[in-house]
This record gives sequence, C-alpha cells and structure tokens, in this order.
Amino acid sequence: MSTDPELTWKPVGQAADWPADGGKLVQVGPRRIGVYRHQGAWYALKDVCPHAGVSLVKGPIQDLAVMCVGHGWTFRLDTGEIDRGPGGFSVPTYPARERDGVVELGF
Ligand code: FES
Repeated sequence: MSTDPELTWKPVGQAADWPADGGKLVQVGPRRIGVYRHQGAWYALKDVCPHAGVSLVKGPIQDLAVMCVGHGWTFRLDTGEIDRGPGGFSVPTYPARERDGVVELGF
C-alpha cells in the first residue's frame, strides 16, 4: 500500500504461505499483527480486538472488513476503523506490501 520512503520494511513471510484470501498472524518484536491478503491487496492490523482482546485474524473477511469471532464486531482492513459495532473503536494498521514473493510490513 504505502510507499513512504521513510518507512523501514520488514519481511514477515512468504506470500505463498498465505491463504488466497485471508489472514495470518505474524509476530514482529512484541507486536502481534494480522496480515491479510484480500482481493489482491495486502493489509495489516494489530491482532487485538479493542472490545475484549480476541485475536482478529481468525475471523472471516467480507467487504474489506474482518469480523471478530468474539462478538461479531467488524473492522475495516484498510483503515482499522470499526465497520459494524459501537462507534469510536478502531485497530491500529500498518502498511503492507509484497515484493518478489515476500510479504513486508512498514514501520
Ligand atoms: S472481543 Fe471482539 S467483538 Fe468482542
């Protein structure tokens, strides 16, 4: 997504290891991050639901949003904003991209 030259890109895995349309958990230092391939694009969200801390990456993706399996809130993959659920909640996002088959996150 972002091509900000200020970012440091860290490899987090091989794109071939991802589902064709779905997410996978990666760990970068202390951060647990859900990295998603959806409709040919890459997205990354902190993998902690702001409601009760459930891992988001196990949830289904629909209409550019992932659903928390805890209580059904959904969060947009591109912005981290809540899509379905009470207002005012969001999840931090990270720039994500694929380069030569390697998935990278920007920090
Ligand atoms: S823990 Fe995610 S909606 Fe409740």
